[in-house]
Amino acid sequence: MKRMVSGIKPTGGLTLGNYIGAIKNFIDFQDEYELFVFIADLHALTTKQDRLELRKRIKDITALYIACGLDPEKTTIYIQSEIAAHSQLSYLLECHTYMGELNRMTQYKDKTGKNMTESITSSLFTYPVLMAADIILYDADFVPVGDDQKQHVELTRNIAQRFNQRHGDFFIVPEPVIPKQGARIMDLQNPLKKMSKSDDSDKGSILLLDDLNRIRNKIKSSMTDSDSEVRFDQENKPGISNLMTIYSTLASITYKEIQDKYIDKGYGVFKSDLAEIVVDAIRPIQERYNEIVKSKELDDILDAGRDKASKIAYKKIMKANNKLGLGRKR
Ligand code: AMP
Ligand code: TRP
Repeated sequence: MKRMVSGIKPTGGLTLGNYIGAIKNFIDFQDEYELFVFIADLHALTTKQDRLELRKRIKDITALYIACGLDPEKTTIYIQSEIAAHSQLSYLLECHTYMGELNRMTQYKDKTGKNMTESITSSLFTYPVLMAADIILYDADFVPVGDDQKQHVELTRNIAQRFNQRHGDFFIVPEPVIPKQGARIMDLQNPLKKMSKSDDSDKGSILLLDDLNRIRNKIKSSMTDSDSEVRFDQENKPGISNLMTIYSTLASITYKEIQDKYIDKGYGVFKSDLAEIVVDAIRPIQERYNEIVKSKELDDILDAGRDKASKIAYKKIMKANNKLGLGRKR
């Protein structure tokens, strides 16, 4: 069975973008692949976090993974920081990564902008290397992610290849798996910007734990262009195109079918229907979340996940140390 690894940072509430771009696909893949899904808490520390808030979010993401349909019998679910080998391997990989490569990462450039101030942490710069470690530590064949992570997986491939060239075949060079549709869900208020959980303008992001009426309102008041034709045109009609992508992925119908259905109906009817489709997708997730978030079951799942993942990770990091001539011969 081929192996897949992916993770999500607990930096804010999970969004509909996380669901459509990542989690929904994890669920589809879990029968076909050996799936490892973790909570990337170390990655959250690249920006300032409140410790109690972070703890809560780690539990929330775990509960949401399960509530969305990840089955702990099939999928290994764990917390990144509970497995020391992630950080250990990250350092070894830093020794195989060039400053120039990290400088080219667009996410880093977007986050720091032009003002390279004192307050930007070095971990924000090296974070793609930790992500590479997260992946190749488990010899993953595939990495299911949204579009924004593609460049990081490309970097992971380069680092793995470089390591293999220098030291002989050791890591599997993984491939990104990006959904054909929904790989970049956009902000509802600014459809030129990615929907993001760590965003202040909360009206643009639908959170999986938002009140259902609030979700309806966010969709109904989303930004669309001034004509009223429901037609997919990414370039000229980014707002409605984004809503159509959400509709299409959640209702499993094509753009053409949506277009035909709403011909002459206008945006109002379309948005009302979409609001119900989104609410119908999210309601059962929230119900299940509420049942399990405080249960002991979550800790049991995380314990089992940690035990399984750490065995694999420990073996690999020991071999990597040995390969590089660290410590004593074993
Ligand atoms: P993050 O929230 O940055 O930890 O992202 C976790 C996963 O969700 C990654 O695979 C991202 O590519 C994916 N993701 C995040 N935001 C979006 C979005 N707006 N549309 C599609 N996928 C997303
Ligand atoms: N960097 C990813 C993000 O911000 C999260 C992540 C961390 C990840 N490690 C990973 C995703 C490994 C896939 C595989 O979205």
